[in-house]
Amino acid sequence: MKNGKCPRRCVLIFNRQSAIGNWQCSDLPLDAYAPTLGHYRLRPVGSLPVDRIAAEAVRLKLKKAMKNTQSEMPFVFPKWANYALPLAVLAVVGGMFYLPTLVALAASPKATAVGYSPVQPVPYSHALHVGKLGLDCRYCHNTVEKTPFASLPPTQTCMNCHTGVLTKSAALQPIRDSWASGKPMQWIKIHNLAQYVYFNHAAHVTHGVGCVECHGRIDQMEQVRQVQPLSMGWCLDCHRDPGPHLRPVDQVTNMSWTAGTDAPQLANDLLAKYHIHDTTYMSSCSTCHR
Ligand code: HEC
Ligand code: HEC
Ligand code: HEC
Ligand code: HEC
Ligand code: HEC
Repeated sequence: MKNGKCPRRCVLIFNRQSAIGNWQCSDLPLDAYAPTLGHYRLRPVGSLPVDRIAAEAVRLKLKKAMKNTQSEMPFVFPKWANYALPLAVLAVVGGMFYLPTLVALAASPKATAVGYSPVQPVPYSHALHVGKLGLDCRYCHNTVEKTPFASLPPTQTCMNCHTGVLTKSAALQPIRDSWASGKPMQWIKIHNLAQYVYFNHAAHVTHGVGCVECHGRIDQMEQVRQVQPLSMGWCLDCHRDPGPHLRPVDQVTNMSWTAGTDAPQLANDLLAKYHIHDTTYMSSCSTCHR
């Protein structure tokens, strides 16, 4: 945000059912939303200064809330009451909390986490274990095909080998401690989606989307880092045209698979074979915000 102005197209987004308002600035043109709105309503605000967008959102939210209150309790607010002043006060008070929250959200590391690569308690290397030793992802992340979440391996999985290999390694001391005490390893989570986004690993992995599409060449990383923005625009780029991103399901953990010469034909075949939903479903709000 430059000079308090949003450089992008901004919209207020209202959920018709819950009356919860939110606002968003995106690079997408407005008509990109139009066919998929469902029970959402958009109000374009162009490039208003950021504080005015927040104030407008609060104003509309309050207006709706007041309307609901009025119809339920007609005597609390007599007809002659002038709501202008209380509303203005509420809007200012609300804005005081609302705006900083939004600014904090926009500036939080989650929104710009490409390259995030924290040092882990044990210098576990995917380049060694996957790239050199050739372990399959599912040996350790074994729920990835069945559940929304890709589990991390328990210490037992490491000890399958490390009771015999490198038993005196200092780097492996925390693993041996965890094994002895029964306390699980505290790995630092790298990829973090906001709570209001629904994501599901199994839905992708069982429909031919490879790990490498979203996590990059993990098999070459000494230390895992985030390589994709995980932003809404990024998800939608693929959801609008998933064909070229599909592969046979038995290749999802193969990091170096390529489509070969007849890629367009393969894309069409796989779209049909895996019964991939149409673009309207794939890009509708409720697919990812449930
Ligand atoms: C021998 C076990 C093992 C294998 C095999 C393995 N991983 Fe991992 N993976 C781990 C451990 C332990 C962590 C947590 C520590 C870290 O981030 O390095 C992890 C972390 C990750 C993360 C980051 C998770 C987060 O916090 O966001 C991703 C992504 C990942 N692995 C993908 C893969 C992929 C893709 C493969 C196959 C190409 C794979 N892993 C194979 C053990 C394994
Ligand atoms: C299939 C067997 C196998 C599994 C399972 C396995 N490792 Fe390893 N690991 C090895 C081998 C082999 C080496 C390297 C040997 C060498 O350098 O010659 C190694 C090396 C390491 C090293 C380097 C240690 C050093 O001192 O250089 C670390 C750290 C490590 N592994 C952590 C882990 C963790 C954490 C897990 C569980 C998530 C794990 N490994 C699971 C086989 C395994
Ligand atoms: C369509 C994109 C996509 C694909 C394909 C994908 N992941 Fe992920 N992965 C993500 C996202 C997004 C997150 C963060 C999820 C969250 O924070 O809720 C994540 C998180 C993880 C984590 C951390 C634990 C978790 O579930 O939050 C691991 C481990 C992981 N992925 C491994 C894998 C492996 C292994 C594969 C392939 C078998 C794979 N992923 C395929 C997008 C993907
Ligand atoms: C590389 C392509 C790709 C990317 C990137 C991607 N997806 Fe998907 N997504 C797919 C495909 C393909 C499916 C399977 C659709 C089907 O079964 O019809 C899918 C399915 C889903 C589903 C399940 C839909 C259902 O009801 O069956 C959800 C939820 C979802 N994606 C959310 C996300 C989110 C959130 C992101 C971004 C963090 C994301 N996806 C990124 C390709 C992708
Ligand atoms: C393919 C998945 C997907 C679809 C479809 C989708 N979203 Fe999102 N949305 C996301 C993800 C992922 C984020 C989190 C982005 C981030 O953290 O940077 C997000 C964030 C948002 C935010 C918060 C933005 C902000 O600035 O904090 C709003 C509001 C939103 N989406 C509304 C919508 C609406 C309205 C629709 C339908 C027109 C929609 N989304 C469709 C994945 C999706």
